[in-house]
Amino acid sequence: MPKIKFNDKDAEVAEGENPYDTFEKLGMEFSCFNGICGTCKMKVNKGMENINPKTEEENEFPLDDDERLGCQCSRLKGDIEVEYEGW
Ligand code: FES
Repeated sequence: MPKIKFNDKDAEVAEGENPYDTFEKLGMEFSCFNGICGTCKMKVNKGMENINPKTEEENEFPLDDDERLGCQCSRLKGDIEVEYEGW
């Protein structure tokens, strides 16, 4: 099962499953859930290749190369390490 290191916390999510619930349990906040508000913006320190490709919404949002929107991450293929500061 892919592991998520989220700030100083760890969790696992079943391979291919959506990570939203796990992100939320670890402290991520969501608002629009449509890739518009940026509430769920996170920095991916490791494992970007283990997340689905950036969505159209993410490509339109001002994100650095190492940033993603948690609400747009639909499946994990492997371990990731992220930093989330919140809104
Ligand atoms: S919850 Fe609004 S961009 Fe993710």
